[in-house]
Amino acid sequence: MKPEIKDAAPIRNLRAGTPFLWCNPKVKKAEKVLPGLPLHIDDLRDAQARQYRFAPLMAELFPELGVAGGLIESELLPAGKLKKALHYPGNFLLKADNDLPVAGSIKARGGIYEVLHFAEKRAVDAGLLKYSDNYVKLLDPAVRKLFRKYTVSVGSTGNLGFSIGMISAALGFGCRIHMSSDAKAWKKERLRKRGVTVIEHDSDYTSAVAEARKAAAADDSVYFVDDENSVNLFLGYATAAFRLKAQLESQNIGIDRKHPLFVYLPCGVGGAPGGITFGLKILFGNAVRCFIAEPVESPCMTLGLVTGRHSEISVYDIGLTNATEADGLAVSRSSGFVGKFIENLLSGAFTLEDDVLYKYLWLLNRHESVKVEPSAAAGIAGPEFLLRSEEGAGYLEKARISPENITHVAWLTGGRFVPETEMKKFIRKGASVMTAASLPVRNIKRNRKDTEKS
Ligand SMILES: Cc1ncc(COP(=O)(O)O)c(C=O)c1O
Repeated sequence: MKPEIKDAAPIRNLRAGTPFLWCNPKVKKAEKVLPGLPLHIDDLRDAQARQYRFAPLMAELFPELGVAGGLIESELLPAGKLKKALHYPGNFLLKADNDLPVAGSIKARGGIYEVLHFAEKRAVDAGLLKYSDNYVKLLDPAVRKLFRKYTVSVGSTGNLGFSIGMISAALGFGCRIHMSSDAKAWKKERLRKRGVTVIEHDSDYTSAVAEARKAAAADDSVYFVDDENSVNLFLGYATAAFRLKAQLESQNIGIDRKHPLFVYLPCGVGGAPGGITFGLKILFGNAVRCFIAEPVESPCMTLGLVTGRHSEISVYDIGLTNATEADGLAVSRSSGFVGKFIENLLSGAFTLEDDVLYKYLWLLNRHESVKVEPSAAAGIAGPEFLLRSEEGAGYLEKARISPENITHVAWLTGGRFVPETEMKKFIRKGASVMTAASLPVRNIKRNRKDTEKS
């Protein structure tokens, strides 16, 4: 039986597939929310310390990480030409996770961290590693022999599976990836070439995860990475906040209440954007405002937050299809763990049509020579919604924020390993939907009063 849903304005927009900005009425001051959460700055520091312990090994396993000292990190890029083309006031920057080494997407942050955490625990428990050791020791035959006994398993729309497959294969674990029907063929192919077992499902992401969870429960040697509930994944994403802070400082960009940071994060099940929101709130408090971006047919996190039902409701329940070209965001049911975690931290959400994602994909390539997959372009719409919709203008006015004082960061979340032929197709599609007269975001709903009622 489908749950009954109160038909408030945001629900009407979600149900109708109308792109819109939703400002979260439950967001509270950081100092009120953070102390009551189950994770704190020490957990973030602990995760970062683990990443540093593994850095020498990572540089050994993936020579491309050598320049970054073995850390998986992306650049914070100025985007002056795109800013000019889109007429965005203030600072406008791109966090280039589309170019993240090793796995080429934001999912590498959580996925790789979680497998490293598992590897450390196994090796320490077996007496083969001390925290003070150089972790290159994990390449010793005795450790490899231990790791061969385990299989890491995960359900994925593609990019998480790709990240987990890369690191598991490099460390010597077995690896089994359950891919949803949205996963692109080239991602599966590349993993198979690395010796990873790829199990293809005809169903969506939520079902692929359920299948993976069930299969893992029946086998003690399988370690299941739970994209819907994992604290370690969440912390792996959250450590990005330390790096972003350092990058802003090195570019002399000051952030405070009057000069806030607005961050726009494409959202699937919620782990990556949720973890990063948490990390940023810890480091910047009320000076940062995070918004998630979702496709109009797959707005699972927005739906979960708006209704307060989190993972108890799916986009199918309101008649949506979950069909989108943004494969990484094609998720019908959000993570309940993440939804509840961020419900008082997240400033809002906006939804986008696929054509608009392609327009931004094209604009990024045209003006900044940056190549991304469709999911990854969603954040570019953030300033458009904040500055040009009635809802956004009202939000800024209420918060007394001058548009020229904002530093906007659009988080680009994937693209590095998209094959050239696929990328050309994406860009051609972008060009075909990009007409000189049309605005990058169409149909922004003028719905401020409606949303306030909700
Ligand atoms: C390119 C890309 N962007 C964003 C996301 C969203 O991450 P999450 O599912 O953790 O919300 C994904 C997820 O796979 C992705 O592949």
